[in-house]
Amino acid sequence: MKKNKILVTGAAGYIGGTFAYEALCKGFEVLGIDNFINSDDTNIQLLKEKFPSRFQFAELNLADDPKGLKKVLKRFNPNFVLHFAGLKAVEESQKKPELYKKNNVGSTLNLLENMAPSSSLIFSSSATVYGANQQQPLSEDSPIQASSVYGLTKIESENLIQRYALTKDIKAICLRYFNPIGSHRDYLIVEDYLNNPNNIMPKLIKAVKSNNNKIYVYGSDYNTKDGTGERDYIHITDLVQGHIAAMQKVDNIQNTQFFNLGTGKSTSVLQLIETFNRVNNLNIEIEYMERRKGDVPICYANPFKANKELNWKANICLEQMCKDSWEATNA
Ligand code: UD1
Repeated sequence: MKKNKILVTGAAGYIGGTFAYEALCKGFEVLGIDNFINSDDTNIQLLKEKFPSRFQFAELNLADDPKGLKKVLKRFNPNFVLHFAGLKAVEESQKKPELYKKNNVGSTLNLLENMAPSSSLIFSSSATVYGANQQQPLSEDSPIQASSVYGLTKIESENLIQRYALTKDIKAICLRYFNPIGSHRDYLIVEDYLNNPNNIMPKLIKAVKSNNNKIYVYGSDYNTKDGTGERDYIHITDLVQGHIAAMQKVDNIQNTQFFNLGTGKSTSVLQLIETFNRVNNLNIEIEYMERRKGDVPICYANPFKANKELNWKANICLEQMCKDSWEATNA
């Protein structure tokens, strides 16, 4: 039997929306769920228009409405559940820990409670689970330690998944994302840069669009190659391919597996800004600020396990990531 039905939580967002788009292009049938807590319905409308016969949508609060979720799961009976939905702003998580716990951990719990063991789960985890780790690059067996409430919600979700995989016989893969940027080839789904972005790429885009042309760099005295923070930026297309690879693998694993999705390359904030300016012919200026609370100096992946066991590798270079991030906003 062909396994072609995917439930996508967080389908209105940048990563969930891009995944849903790619999966639909590949011929899958997708049911999207979102409650629009930090998105609008632009991506949902787009998916509905492009794929009227294979895309359905249910507006649902995963954390609050287990009955509604149960109904949707029963009716659609997915082969795969891809759980992208979640709040992700570190600073906000420190101010609203209860909201983060309820929304992020509560939604994972409700999914696990209501999923049939015949569906497999792919969960959007994050490199944030490794916290501030001196030993770099990070591999899947590096120590787990939260450095924010947001990080804790990802660790708690991973733990719940592990528990349910054992007790309910669900197969699950947790993908630990590094820093996704860029836009997929058709430039239809773009990361939101208008509504108070926290991450560096949407902030760079906003700096140009607002004519302010300036970015604050948080910290110049880290023990890194040029004093600014280092991260592992990964193109969203490579990230999405990692999910397809995980779907091909998940039925053949025992219980739960964890994989880093990163390139293995470490890029400083200055290198990122220089590349963004150069490939797009822009001239965003830099102003140094204090370090941002909760930031880690350096965080990059050892992607060996995913390369080998998922037969997946990130291929797209930083130049292309910066080009696609910018050009998609002008398409
Ligand atoms: C952050 C979260 C991470 C989360 C991810 C997605 C922290 C510590 N981590 O990742 O858990 O999964 O967002 O939401 O917040 N920077 C500037 N100026 C800016 C913005 C960022 O210099 O205006 C720097 C940061 O200090 C950092 C780098 O750019 O060194 C990347 O920052 P960002 O894009 O926010 O991602 P993370 O902090 O890695």
